[in-house]
Amino acid sequence: MSSVLKDKHIIIGITGSIAAYKAAILIRLLVKSGAEVKVIMTPMAKQFITPLTIATLAKSPILVDFYNPENGDWNSHVDLGMWADLYLIAPASANTIGKMANGIADNLLLTTYLSAKCPVLVAPAMDLDMYAHPANLKNLETLKSYGNRIVEPASGELASGLIGKGRMEEPENIVKAVEDFFFQPAELSGKHFLVTAGPTFEPIDPVRFIGNWSSGKMGYAIAEELAKRGAKVSLVSGPTNISSTHPNITKTDVVSAEEMYQKCIDIYPNTHGAVMCAAVADYRPDSYSNVKIKRKSNDLSINLTPNKDIAAELGKIKKQEQLLVGFALETNDEVQNSAKKLQSKNLDFIVLNSLRDKGAGFNHDTNKISIIFKDGKAEHFDLKSKANVAKDIVDQIVRSTKS
Ligand code: PMT
Repeated sequence: MSSVLKDKHIIIGITGSIAAYKAAILIRLLVKSGAEVKVIMTPMAKQFITPLTIATLAKSPILVDFYNPENGDWNSHVDLGMWADLYLIAPASANTIGKMANGIADNLLLTTYLSAKCPVLVAPAMDLDMYAHPANLKNLETLKSYGNRIVEPASGELASGLIGKGRMEEPENIVKAVEDFFFQPAELSGKHFLVTAGPTFEPIDPVRFIGNWSSGKMGYAIAEELAKRGAKVSLVSGPTNISSTHPNITKTDVVSAEEMYQKCIDIYPNTHGAVMCAAVADYRPDSYSNVKIKRKSNDLSINLTPNKDIAAELGKIKKQEQLLVGFALETNDEVQNSAKKLQSKNLDFIVLNSLRDKGAGFNHDTNKISIIFKDGKAEHFDLKSKANVAKDIVDQIVRSTKS
């Protein structure tokens, strides 16, 4: 049993979404972890899953109406809000998110939201077009500005049959986000780090781009580990299929190196340090064709122009008290090449991974690294899972972080 959740009071709000069936699993996992759970359903949620199922799993009657029509018993949203250590709304439909953002209170779930003093965690669930609509994205930003935390939806097959972002995160991952919320070790608390992850895509025309094989696994593992140790993390990510669930992580999605540069240059000055794990394209096509380039029988040349070196640009503005950690992905002369990058980009240390090592680098769940320091010393590590590699890197960050 997870001791972090033992005796925690959690209200679960269920809204009208096909993902309501996952709320049953979520409640079972939270109750199994020792949490005390009360459930509020919107009237629409009852169309998707029966109150009997939910009440049985929650071990308490579900709440829908402001009062019990049988005996006039009042369901006080104020008392509910006071009782809770956390209000988790999962699944949260676009409709409910819109009402929360705008202070509309036409059911018990929403009145409880408005009066709740406790932190609020929201797990959206909807079709990809609804999720991507500017109105919905704006509403989510509004909720974040109220201090609510969002468990980002995953990408995958949706109930509509379409594939994209909008599917409610799996119950196990939501429980992890809840555990992370209650478990805040202090080692890096009060610190703020920027992490870059994934590839960049440099568009050629509306259908083609120059990219690379980075999956984002290594960068996301570092962001997750920093967040677990209490740091606030700004994750700037190129296109990946990974979602981050830790409430300390704020993710910004970018596509090209130029977009990644713009975000990093904005964020870095207000941080304690940055970990540059992204595989950034060094070059982009020097012109973009607005229409698809047609196949012809003769050769086609694309002129490339250099992108900014983001790590080097941050190295130029790095303050005395800030940390800058780079990566080096090498295929030959590994130590010499990474030592040059360490120097030229003004890094504090560099994490070397070589494509000559089996199981290291792009896309694997494992990596094999060496950490190279400015004085030429190096620490070599065995092949490990990327989660454990991230622990080794963050251990070094903790040792190097300037107070
Ligand atoms: O995402 P995964 O599939 O898990 O794979 C992980 C990884 C192999 C991508 C990762 O471990 C890694 O090595 N990342 C750095 C890849 C890279 O671009 O290395 P580089 O040697 O070309 O760049 C050196 C450093 O400069 C890196 O910190 C890089 O982020 C940075 N850089 C490079 C070019 C550029 N234009 N801007 C940069 O900031």
